[in-house]
Amino acid sequence: MNSIKRRSWAEPFKIKVVEPLKMTTREERANALKEAGYNTFLLRSEDVYIDLLTDSGTNAMSDYQWAGMLLGDEAYAGSRNYYNLEAKVQEYYGYKYLVPTHQGRGAEHMISQILIKKGDFIPGNMYFTTTRLHQELAGGTFVDVIIDEAHDPENLHPFKGNIDLQKLEDLVKRVGAERIPYISVAATVNMAGGQPISMENLRQVRALCQKHSIRVILDATRAIENAYFIKLREKGYESKSVKEILKGLCSYSDGCTMSGKKDLLVNIGGFLALNEWDIFEEARNLVVVYEGLHTYGGLAGRDMEAMARGIEEAVHEDHIRARIGQVEYVGEKLKSAGIPFVQPVGGHAIFLDAKKFLPHLRQVEFPAQTLAAELYEESGIRSMERGIVSAGRNKETGDHYYPKLELVRLTFPRRVYTQAHCDVTVEAVEEAYQQRENIKGLNMVYEPKYLRFFQARFEKL
Ligand code: F0G
Repeated sequence: MNSIKRRSWAEPFKIKVVEPLKMTTREERANALKEAGYNTFLLRSEDVYIDLLTDSGTNAMSDYQWAGMLLGDEAYAGSRNYYNLEAKVQEYYGYKYLVPTHQGRGAEHMISQILIKKGDFIPGNMYFTTTRLHQELAGGTFVDVIIDEAHDPENLHPFKGNIDLQKLEDLVKRVGAERIPYISVAATVNMAGGQPISMENLRQVRALCQKHSIRVILDATRAIENAYFIKLREKGYESKSVKEILKGLCSYSDGCTMSGKKDLLVNIGGFLALNEWDIFEEARNLVVVYEGLHTYGGLAGRDMEAMARGIEEAVHEDHIRARIGQVEYVGEKLKSAGIPFVQPVGGHAIFLDAKKFLPHLRQVEFPAQTLAAELYEESGIRSMERGIVSAGRNKETGDHYYPKLELVRLTFPRRVYTQAHCDVTVEAVEEAYQQRENIKGLNMVYEPKYLRFFQARFEKL
């Protein structure tokens, strides 16, 4: 008989600096929402109570990172912090060459411009908004080759980010390998619900691509979270460190685009990392046009230092366990309350299933957009639409894409909110769920040309 009580779990940090939150009344929120055109991207942050819009650039830095900020070498060229960052990227990610960028899409822009020719095809494990747009702007066409399970919110596959090798092989047969400059592999897959890809799958993708001389470019934005899922779920990796697994993942690719604003615990920053000298040389040349000199790429020295230090902290086992554990905690509570959301719980967010939450709304009435707006009005919690609005329009036909997944993302910034904030969030979602039958849809009244979800405006039907 074991008489020792299991101890509670707590965040593996204590709080040194605080930022007060503003509470608002329902009436204030209704006004703010109307002014924002029912788009949570257009709300003012000061009107938000718990901000779960994104985990991008919203992380809390550590004292170690802040100390590094003071060591910023703000030289125009050859900053010490650039070399620190380069050394950390080489050590932890394993790539040879580094081009810093202001954030992830700066790297996506460059790799797309360098590798894609008009008429090319770029397969990927589900799209990400900015990644696909840069591929299209470079003249390419994105092709989704993720496994079918990823499009089913209830399927419990442990690696829903996996690539369907048959779909990839079919694409090669259909268009020819010479029209596929690279495959864009995300780890984890944001739009699928923060779902990981397995090491075994990436190894097989690599082998298939090598056979056809197709490059593998990793979107390593949340690859550390992906590495932790591999440790938890894939046989043979239980006793490996997250650091080792990360390097293993990257070893099956030729380079990566990176938004440091996620895994790397900073507020701004990203990079393109490469193993091929020729491509690096082109990127180093292109970066001066769009971002800045190749040793700063749009970042201050201090930002590069914070990111270099963030790499060390991000792979720390206590950190990553708590990070994924927090999202898991919210998932467990929502499950007990019978709330429909994407399973298994992903790395950075809970994705509410808006089609199931609001079954009375048609997809053109924007169920996920509606639910995000409703949650804010109800509780001051800000979330993000990841459904038909985010999916945008087909560039040939001009029609909406109708994604199978119509989701609302509750995204958890790293080290920012406590378990109590999580409890409040769950209660707010439960309340919205109880009132779901009274929720009416939206009509889009303004639609920008690119990445419409950021600035589109709506009215209540
Ligand atoms: N790739 C993935 C998988 C992302 O999630 C993001 C950003 C990017 C690339 C682009 O990076 O924002 O630094 O330019 N995702 C944010 C989000 C915006 O909220 O999920 P960026």
